[in-house]
Amino acid sequence: MTSTQTPPSRSPSARPATTAEIEARTGLDDGVLRALVHAFYDKIRRDPVLGPIFAARIDDWPPHLERMTAFWSSVALMTGRYHGAPVPKHIGLPIDRGHFERWLCLFREAATEICTAAGAAHVIERAERIARSLSFAVEDARGGGIPKLA
Ligand code: HEM
Repeated sequence: MTSTQTPPSRSPSARPATTAEIEARTGLDDGVLRALVHAFYDKIRRDPVLGPIFAARIDDWPPHLERMTAFWSSVALMTGRYHGAPVPKHIGLPIDRGHFERWLCLFREAATEICTAAGAAHVIERAERIARSLSFAVEDARGGGIPKLA
């Protein structure tokens, strides 16, 4: 391998070269993302506002944590491991913008504790973008979105 080639990716991926390049740049891989997901949901479950919302809907945590690791692997490393539809799972939850802000606050804390600075910046940017679009989708489903033109 010459120095211009990217090393093999550490995480199984549908796009190994892209994944390897992101891993090299950010220090992220599936192992780091799994640790991030566990640290983040430990915080979520202890949070007095968000904890009960999750507790009312998730009895079996290990499959949720595996799904969230696959989600973050797809989002952050472009591995294509997650096949799901998050929006319908959030419509109908008792949440508003304040809950998303709180979710992001805990996510930023966990990312800063677990990832390198570049890795934390990479996942936080994506979390902020997805939280914004989920928040719009939840509001829109309630009829509080952008008013329709006549
Ligand atoms: C106020 C903030 C949030 C709350 C209370 C919340 C709550 C939940 C709950 C209870 C579930 C499980 C739903 C079920 O299995 O029936 C879930 C799933 C999920 N959430 Fe959130 N969530 C929040 C924000 C976010 C954000 C910002 C993201 C992404 C950055 C996200 C990504 C996901 C994904 C990928 C799933 C799995 C969906 C699937 O089953 O494939 N959530 N969330």
